[in-house]
Amino acid sequence: MINPSQEIIDSAYVKDYEKLYTEVKENPEAFWENIAKELSWFKPWNKVLDWNYPYARWFVGGQCNIVNNALDRWQKTDVAEKKAYIWVAQDGTERTFTYKQLNDAVSRFANGLKSLGLKKGDRVSIYLPRIPEQFIAMLACAKIGVIHSVVFSGFSVDALKNRIVDAEAKVVICADGYPYKDKVVECKKNVDEAIENIKMATGGTPGRDPGSAQVTSTDGKDKAGQNLSQIEHVIVIKRAGNNIQMQPGRDIWYHELVAKQDPICSTVIMEATDPLFILYTSGSTGKPKGVIHSHGGYMVGTYSTLRWIFNLQPDDIYFCTADSGWITGHSYIVYSPLMNGATTFVYEGTPDYPDPGIWWRLVEKYKITKFYTAPTAIRALMRLGDEIPNKYDLSSLKILGTVGEPINPEAWLWYHRVIGKEKCPVMDTWWQTETGMMMISPLPASPLKAGSASKPFFGIETEIVDEKGNPAPVDTQGYLIIKKPWPSMLMDVYNNPKRYLETYFQNEAITNTQIFENKQFFYFTGDSAKKDADGYYWIVGRNDDVIKVSGHRLGSAELESAFVAHPSVAEAAVIGKPDEVKGEKIKAFIILKKDVQPSDQLKEELKQQVRKMIGPIATPDEIEFVDKLPKTRSGKIMRRVLKAQELGQPLGDTSTLEN
Ligand code: WTA
Repeated sequence: MINPSQEIIDSAYVKDYEKLYTEVKENPEAFWENIAKELSWFKPWNKVLDWNYPYARWFVGGQCNIVNNALDRWQKTDVAEKKAYIWVAQDGTERTFTYKQLNDAVSRFANGLKSLGLKKGDRVSIYLPRIPEQFIAMLACAKIGVIHSVVFSGFSVDALKNRIVDAEAKVVICADGYPYKDKVVECKKNVDEAIENIKMATGGTPGRDPGSAQVTSTDGKDKAGQNLSQIEHVIVIKRAGNNIQMQPGRDIWYHELVAKQDPICSTVIMEATDPLFILYTSGSTGKPKGVIHSHGGYMVGTYSTLRWIFNLQPDDIYFCTADSGWITGHSYIVYSPLMNGATTFVYEGTPDYPDPGIWWRLVEKYKITKFYTAPTAIRALMRLGDEIPNKYDLSSLKILGTVGEPINPEAWLWYHRVIGKEKCPVMDTWWQTETGMMMISPLPASPLKAGSASKPFFGIETEIVDEKGNPAPVDTQGYLIIKKPWPSMLMDVYNNPKRYLETYFQNEAITNTQIFENKQFFYFTGDSAKKDADGYYWIVGRNDDVIKVSGHRLGSAELESAFVAHPSVAEAAVIGKPDEVKGEKIKAFIILKKDVQPSDQLKEELKQQVRKMIGPIATPDEIEFVDKLPKTRSGKIMRRVLKAQELGQPLGDTSTLEN
């Protein structure tokens, strides 16, 4: 146990976690209501929580807009002149935005979007690298009630296409290209190709998408291509200045669009329960699902968690290394820091470019006080030794954080000792795209255990259970579940309520259907964990077919369908295997079509195929050609059995195994 210093305790918002946790447990709604009152609303709510199985709706009757809290409310205060973002490009070029400048840019772009006919409820896909326009685009959409769906720039054509189609987006916002280490990624080409593929698949009219043959959603219906509205416009931000094709009538330069616009735009009044964004995330089966978050509840949950867990103070310079293509960037680069009036630092490049000292050099130069990153990066930098970080003055740091995958004690201790100089508490925050906000985490004043995410945040009730839903004994691995609704909980899965119900509330891993029949709040996280005798949580990892590669969330089914799209492949099964740096790596078992000969060249071709379709982050590490795959009698591949076999572990229950 590592105890906090007196200095940390003195500066912390919350000094006694246990006391407040117990108090809040009595009446969590009152707790969340009090936090909501710290924010601005156009109209107060009539009901804090409306629980109607399996949906929780927060601040019902309330009217707000998250952008009103992120930007508008600062404009007549001193915060208007404070820096909202300090952005540094790969080549060191700096761009900063005060809250006023950011508000102007967002308003201009919001007016631009309106001029294209976009209105409340429409969907826009944002496919941008880590540049300020990524945040500006998200905020501009939210300001006018347009639902944004950000697609991580590291995804490529097929992944992008699926997300555009499922969200039924009318407009795509992208860049011409962007620098990535020594290369330029030509991302506009991916957009052109994705739109072309959509057209080809649908003949320009709504219909079924043949490219998705192997993937079916849990309800057996494949929505791809249905209700498809044509992409009306592509808005292109000039970043790399590379040569691109602009399609007349469809493609518009961002700088030309905003140049004509007024920097004043009124923020649209939204119901607290109106959708703010859709973010696609991988699950156990089928294509990624569109997780929907609200304006009101999401606002309250994200605002309070960063504030308390990172002990945000007015003079902080907060550096989050995530990308807004993922939930961490949505909640903790864009919305929460702005609602807190914080200064956020963003670096465009990777942790090893131009060299692996870059982050620490930036910490020194910009006097970063709060630093939030992923275990993968810590492990990768740790391997290179202490000399690199030791060259820099890291004394400005006060609090460190991690997210995205379990952090092993060795990496935790290195982070604490070499980066935090044993004076910065490490906040290991456990949460998910679906939870919207940090759920299990220490607070700065908490006693810490290296490798444990500690305890649930106020108002959050978690438990470890067995397959019957009964609490597991101390130190015993089980399913991590959540027993009470929380404000920034996902509202639904876009266009797929059945999948929402079956993934989170009636998961087949739980065999006690009484829980479902009683319509209990029993949210299934998909993670396995243990709780120790002190009530500290130790996250083990996913218990479904989600793979976390360097903290990036990928689904076995998506990867398999990319393999099967290759003409030589008959069947594919993909599992995650432990990896010392990346957490997990991808291993694929492939059955080739009759008459196709296995070869190393074919393996390489398959790797390239997956990179091209899903993205470089999904590059398989190992490919093995096999004759057979373990299946159930109904023909479902048992990845669990493959994985156990691969890792030399007991196979578990194989009663449903056919061969
Ligand atoms: C994993 C990321 C251990 C977990 C915010 C979860 C973690 C999944 C931690 C969600 C942590 C996230 N310790 N595991 N501190 N944080 N995870 O949706 O398996 O990309 O279910 O959200 O990441 O990934 P997602």
